[in-house]
Amino acid sequence: FSSASTLVQRNPSFSTLNFDDISYFKGLLGEKSVIQDEDRLETVNTDWMHKYKGSSKLLLLPRSTEEVAQILRYCNSRCLAVVPQGGNTGLVGGSVPVFDEVIVNVSSMNNIISFDKVSGILVCEAGCILENLISFLDNQGFIMPLDLGAKGSCQIGGNVSTNAGGLRLVRYGSLHENVLGLEAVLANGDVLDMLGTLRKDNTGYDLKHLFIGSEGSLGIVTKVSILTPPKLSSVNIAFLACNDYSSCQVLSASKISFLGINYAKLMQNNSSAYHFLSSVHQKLLMEAKRKLGEILSAFEFLDTEAMNLVLHQFDGVRNPLPASMHNFYILIETTGSDESYNRYLFSAISANNIYIEFINHKNSCREKLEAFLLSSMEDGLISDGVLAQDINQASSFWRIREGVPEALMKAGAVYKYDLSLPVEKMYDLVDDMRIRLGDMAKVVGYGHLGDGNLHLNVSAPEYDDKILEQIEPYVYEWTSKHRGSISAEHGLGLMKANKIYYSKSAETVQTMASIKKLLDPNGILNPYKVLPHSLNS
Ligand code: FAD
Ligand code: MLT
Ligand code: ZN
Repeated sequence: FSSASTLVQRNPSFSTLNFDDISYFKGLLGEKSVIQDEDRLETVNTDWMHKYKGSSKLLLLPRSTEEVAQILRYCNSRCLAVVPQGGNTGLVGGSVPVFDEVIVNVSSMNNIISFDKVSGILVCEAGCILENLISFLDNQGFIMPLDLGAKGSCQIGGNVSTNAGGLRLVRYGSLHENVLGLEAVLANGDVLDMLGTLRKDNTGYDLKHLFIGSEGSLGIVTKVSILTPPKLSSVNIAFLACNDYSSCQVLSASKISFLGINYAKLMQNNSSAYHFLSSVHQKLLMEAKRKLGEILSAFEFLDTEAMNLVLHQFDGVRNPLPASMHNFYILIETTGSDESYNRYLFSAISANNIYIEFINHKNSCREKLEAFLLSSMEDGLISDGVLAQDINQASSFWRIREGVPEALMKAGAVYKYDLSLPVEKMYDLVDDMRIRLGDMAKVVGYGHLGDGNLHLNVSAPEYDDKILEQIEPYVYEWTSKHRGSISAEHGLGLMKANKIYYSKSAETVQTMASIKKLLDPNGILNPYKVLPHSLNS
């Protein structure tokens, strides 16, 4: 555990819970929603990675916006610090208390308020679990624009508050694009009703965006309105392997398993295609965007270390491309509306009586993906690939990618870095870290390649300051030098609050602090997080 006291000092202006406070909350919420049970408190004080641990003595479970408002109004008047918590799957120590903050979780606010089948607009309470929303929409013929490995536990309010990216961002964009409105309760108990359902509304400042990604530091999100895309009939998933140049040269033995073509022969005839590519990934991504364009819905990657971890940690998971060791694996998903195989032939007589035959070949989505894979093979961008034959195989591909964070957790201590970097530079950092760390730890790279988002993880049997010294500030400096972001999607939380200057200018951070002061003058909402400690009180 990161002992909070080594990172920050408890803000002395916060009060400590007393008997009267508990009585007030019991009166407001009823006994059952005021949790003081030690086992439950142990769970909610501990983050998903088992890295951060607080010592809160109280968990509150409001059932309505009005109850949230009353809780905050009271806490503000008493100067009691509060941590909004959702599914507690956050990865930066933002969702658990640092000291004795009161935990407020809107898990009981889990109703779907409305769904409009014409517009695809879903309005729901913030405590809805993402997977439940996914199932609800599936029955309606729609999908969530957001999907991620923690869907079984995370809440939409937590997703919005972290501006979670996930596996579909390459297609549907971030929650800044999909959230049409929200309701939030400010620290003083005021309710901001911004629960619009309009695609267009330019009446002044669009304040909802302040709450998207503010990690519970500006208010508690209680309701969300979100634009959901229709479910399309044709979803295809390919699992590909990529190697570097030297591996490309020995590709002749490789085979392609989705079309039954003698690929080895094809390669011999095309050996000139194997020119050196400084960044195979970048080229593959560019090609995917160009050739799969409107149907590309995920472009994810993991390296061999990540693959080995998943294979090692989970029984029953197997590598779909086990023939030889590959350096990288890429998962491409396409989603489109056309699944039919439309090939038809028609003929006509030209003006000078010549009989012409037209073959009109209308590509289905699956064919498009197959053609893309074949051309990527021919261009030496991939060395092997397999296209999921059915839904079970498709889920088994996703299981590998989505299983990486859990596999890392099972392997021991993990240092997580979530970086936006130029795609062509991204993997250089993983290589650099391997050199820096040598035998001290395993360096694992995976992430949302399509979004330029690398998850650099360092895995070791246990946490060790010597390892940390090799990683930080090196990783942050490297990222800043390449004008990247030190948090692509996980947020800053406690982990990176003090590192914000690597990605934001002093003036920007100062403006953020002013907004925080305006909305939460006593600083009771998620203290010690997001803003640097010098401005966070
Ligand atoms: P919590 O973890 O409980 O909280 C996260 C932050 O939001 C905290 O700062 C908390 O104070 C605040 N918060 C929570 N609820 C509210 C609310 N109602 N109002 C105001 N503030 C609130 N993230 C990605 O971006 N992409 C991924 O692909 C992804 N995959 C993941 C896979 C796994 C296996 C895990 C464990 C995590 C993953 N995450 C990912 C990280 C995480 O950000 C998301 O899981 C999710 O968005 C967090 O939601 P939650 O409900 O668990 O929020
Ligand atoms: C992911 O993409 O798997 C998540 O962001 C979690 C992680 O980074 O480990
Ligand atoms: Zn991610």
